[in-house]
Amino acid sequence: MEQFLPNFTWRSPTRVIFGVGRLADLRGLVDEAAGEQARIFLVTGRSSLRTRGILQRVLDSLGEGKVTLFDRVSPYPSPELADAASAECKEAGCDVVVAIGGGSVMDLAKVVAVMSANAGRAQDYATGEKAIDGPGLPFIAVPTTSGSSSEVTMAAALWDLEGKRHMGLASPHMFPTVAVVDPDLTMSMSKTLAAVTGMDAFTSAIESYWSIEAEPITDGINLQVVQMFNVNLDRSSIQGDIESRANCAMAATMSGIAYSNSRPNACHAVGIPLTLYWGVEHGQAVGVTLTTFLRWAAPGIPHKMPALWRALGVEDLDGACERITRLMTRCGLQTNLSGLGMEETDLDTLVANTRWDRTRTLPRPLGQDDLRGLIQELL
Ligand SMILES: [Fe+2]
Repeated sequence: MEQFLPNFTWRSPTRVIFGVGRLADLRGLVDEAAGEQARIFLVTGRSSLRTRGILQRVLDSLGEGKVTLFDRVSPYPSPELADAASAECKEAGCDVVVAIGGGSVMDLAKVVAVMSANAGRAQDYATGEKAIDGPGLPFIAVPTTSGSSSEVTMAAALWDLEGKRHMGLASPHMFPTVAVVDPDLTMSMSKTLAAVTGMDAFTSAIESYWSIEAEPITDGINLQVVQMFNVNLDRSSIQGDIESRANCAMAATMSGIAYSNSRPNACHAVGIPLTLYWGVEHGQAVGVTLTTFLRWAAPGIPHKMPALWRALGVEDLDGACERITRLMTRCGLQTNLSGLGMEETDLDTLVANTRWDRTRTLPRPLGQDDLRGLIQELL
């Protein structure tokens, strides 16, 4: 029998604070990270925190006079917006960056934190022209959705929607210092937001599991993530009760911890052009090919599949695909490309703009003709 001797580097430096009400810890964590007199650059989205009174609560607890608020983050933030935020952070002489929001807010704030000590434009780092060669300001991430997992990852995505470009910044210097995961903050997610963000983390966990980068630690975490979303994702979307939302918050954070070490691949490779060219929301865009690539990957790692079937509560590949499809349908997500408004004539553009660099960690090689055939069947 062939021996498998693990050989890998594990990275997960972010301290995770988890629990309902733990937002109250934020003030102490800021003091610990940057001192009691620290100036705080607080990054958030435009409205949801205000309507629930959470933003005011945070400002009161941090001390409004010490906070420079940047609340202009929109979904799919651009490098220019990151530059504008960085300039404000530097001008105010901030000592610590705090993000409260979804993936876009945390990603942008993560870039601001690291650029405080790395000169130049965000675009230079996003395109690889410059390398991030040192740590930035301490960065505390507080997610209000359960899916981007940015609170524990070393990557941030920036977008040029007009120029149809997705840019990823990634560096071990970009891991947040602390993640404060308070499930109460996810209670304002709509059914759709709970579904699409959860689907992002659920898909990432399964991609991470079948990847050739996977190792025993990521396998253990990913199987638990799959099991948790399998039981809680539809409930979190449909009922939205605190227990299912808390389980999805935990699962999403765990997914990021695993996929920082074994990266998402094929579903994200196809999902990125689906967002750029057809405006499909990220979690929906990566989820739509999940069963397709599961069928592709499974024969490459037959020894790992029974554990995945158990995590999904099924007995085989067909059962797993049916289970995932049913879960997505119950959450109101589309399970084929025609449901996303795509036609046969779109497929060439999708194949040409797939992020092929991301498909190399599949357990079976995938060529352009293979992908064309697979997505044809998904119409
Ligand atoms: Fe994602």
